[in-house]
Amino acid sequence: MHGKNQQNQHKRIVKKFLYIETYGCQMNFSDSEIVVSIMKDQGYEMTGKPEDADAVFLNTCSIRDNAEKRVLRRLENLQSLRKKKPNLIIGVLGCMAERVKESLLEEAEIGMRIDMVVGPDAYRDLPYLIRDAESGHKAINVILSTEETYADLTPVRYDSNGVSAFISIMRGCENFCSYCVVPGTRGKERSRSPKTIVSEAGQLYERGYREITLLGQNVNSFMWDCSTDRDVINFPALIDNIAKKHPLMRIRFATSHPKDLSDDLISVIASNPNICRSIHLPVQSGSNPVLKRMNRKYTAESYMERVQSIRDRIPGCTVSTDIISGFCGETEEDHRRTMSLMKKAGFDFAYMFKYSERPGTLAESSFEDDVPDDVKTRRLEEIINLQQELSHESNLSDVGKVFEVLVEGVSKRSNENVMGRNSQNKVVIFKDKGFKAGTYVSVEIKQCTSATLLGEAVAVSEQCGGE
Ligand code: SAH
Ligand code: SF4
Ligand code: F3S
Repeated sequence: MHGKNQQNQHKRIVKKFLYIETYGCQMNFSDSEIVVSIMKDQGYEMTGKPEDADAVFLNTCSIRDNAEKRVLRRLENLQSLRKKKPNLIIGVLGCMAERVKESLLEEAEIGMRIDMVVGPDAYRDLPYLIRDAESGHKAINVILSTEETYADLTPVRYDSNGVSAFISIMRGCENFCSYCVVPGTRGKERSRSPKTIVSEAGQLYERGYREITLLGQNVNSFMWDCSTDRDVINFPALIDNIAKKHPLMRIRFATSHPKDLSDDLISVIASNPNICRSIHLPVQSGSNPVLKRMNRKYTAESYMERVQSIRDRIPGCTVSTDIISGFCGETEEDHRRTMSLMKKAGFDFAYMFKYSERPGTLAESSFEDDVPDDVKTRRLEEIINLQQELSHESNLSDVGKVFEVLVEGVSKRSNENVMGRNSQNKVVIFKDKGFKAGTYVSVEIKQCTSATLLGEAVAVSEQCGGE
């Protein structure tokens, strides 16, 4: 009896819990898996409830003003947890930590207490920063690195479906699109050693994962110089190597910059059935003067040429995009050009945003944010409505086709159905006949909405890369 109590007491002293929320892009989700891995080594276990946590981390995004506002609201709301746990540590990690820096620690300035501020290249310093915070000192590290890729760390897949996972293959960005904070928050572009990427893919495969997404702000500029054997490994070579090693594993990647999507990469995709038939190619605008001010380094015409090349050489490949409405100086004519390009490209899916001026960017210093907010909103609505039609058309054209679907789990809406994705990255829902997550099922599409395909299973396959 006495022994057990002592044990419990002992446990209460050593067990510490971490709660983490992630905002922003897939890279940030991938970074949170590194953060959890480092924190586990410091004795922190994960909890899904902030009220049980000793440390609450928000891994933040700065891409638009409303992304930061959301984080600030959440931080404010988390302050109430301090009443019950005065020693609670609240940490801001990621891009907003990098952009706002020490100001986040100024209680007078932001009207609340934050204990830790950690930039995206400083996670290896977490063991020291958390010690400081545990002893009541505020802790900060926002130093950007030119080399850090966390290559040797094993991410903890804490929020995983056990089927699909992200692998970060590079960090940073030096494209300096004029509207974008990422070059400032993530620093210099650097690639991770291919050896560690291939070995991470292999480990995931062994553990039953069947889909990996290779991540970077611009994966096409992945480049590794093996100075020992004078070999240079570029992105097409890397993805070809992984796809051939694991024919039963699906490979996706994000994001491709249109200026760097090479014919080589298109050929590699075309010749490997397990590289997914889905390319995310953010266009941002369909008007050349706007693209020039955005510093995107391609034209609407050269963009369309790339889309055509994809459609010609990878039949059945979907193309998705990102669009910004109301960038500096955008006229009605520019806006019409964007809508017309959307129709020509026939995007299957799009993420669409209102331009948000960001401090420290080239656009902030060079151009006036002169499109009134109501005009931005109206143009965005037009773009969203058009995309909904295009997505619906794209889904309608799939009715009657049979796709190989990788099952991810039970459908959120009904226990009787399972959900998965086809190679084109469309969500497919169909009746569960005891299908396990991680299996490939051939599904005939019977109906659709603008967001989902609904079908019926016709066979279970062991392949990867059918229609
Ligand atoms: N590296 C990726 C995108 C990263 S950010 C790429 O180059 O495509 C994701 C998307 O957010 C961008 O494609 C862009 O459409 C949008 N975005 C970036 N900065 C923005 C801003 N200041 N205002 C509105 N949208 C923005
Ligand atoms: Fe931002 Fe452009 Fe880099 Fe994408 S490529 S992260 S939009 S600067
Ligand atoms: Fe946001 Fe940073 Fe990603 S700004 S979009 S979390 S790289």
